[in-house]
Amino acid sequence: MSFYAGLTDLPTLATERLRLRPLREDDAPALLAIFGNPDVMRHWSSLPWTSVDRALTLVQGLREDFAARTLFQWGIALADTDTVIGTTTLLHLDAANRRAEIGYALDQAHWGRGDAREALQLLIDHAFGELRLHRLEADTDPRNTRSCVLLERLGFAREGLLRERWHVAGEVSDSALYGLLAADWRRARG
Ligand SMILES: CC(C)(COP(=O)(O)OP(=O)(O)OC[C@H]1O[C@@H](n2cnc3c(N)ncnc32)[C@H](O)[C@@H]1OP(=O)(O)O)[C@@H](O)C(=O)NCCC(=O)NCCS
Repeated sequence: MSFYAGLTDLPTLATERLRLRPLREDDAPALLAIFGNPDVMRHWSSLPWTSVDRALTLVQGLREDFAARTLFQWGIALADTDTVIGTTTLLHLDAANRRAEIGYALDQAHWGRGDAREALQLLIDHAFGELRLHRLEADTDPRNTRSCVLLERLGFAREGLLRERWHVAGEVSDSALYGLLAADWRRARG
């Protein structure tokens, strides 16, 4: 099984308000505003970005990731302005076992509006639909309440805790592991 046979870039997925689309070089300032914010990066696996070059490196790297079908990262853009307000990612893709991990981050100005939930619903429909995945996983710091609430509202089950798994800037943190099965998603969505 291979993902996106014949495509040269990620497909764009859309709701009325949001668009998940490939990231471009001109998104770099918006990406720096997201990933340069220490509040957004509080529970991330790396430090806040400090320059726009980091964003450009990401965008270039994503093209290689797409070509190798190893990681898919979409920009979450507002449908009316096309401004990027976050990103969402499928990583650790395992075609044989039909699973992937999901990642997400939103500009802090957009927290508390249901935007992450809407974007992830779109991505999950795509992952279990077109990509025919069987299982999605998420790894989040158990202290990251917003992230845990988001996952639980989407129907992810908390399946385990891996202790002291990350070392970032001298701080050690745990991983709460979450899982969502395609059958549970379909049942919950009727
Ligand atoms: C994790 C993150 C994406 C969650 O964002 P969020 O805005 O809290 O998530 P949601 O989209 O589910 O929004 C939920 C909030 O919107 C409100 N809301 C408003 N309209 C809504 C709607 N139509 N549907 C759902 N929620 C809605 C909810 O009541 C809730 O409000 P609350 O914050 O007062 O409880 C965000 O905090 C973030 O980017 N964090 C930094 C990056 C990060 O840690 N990522 C995870 C790493 S594993």
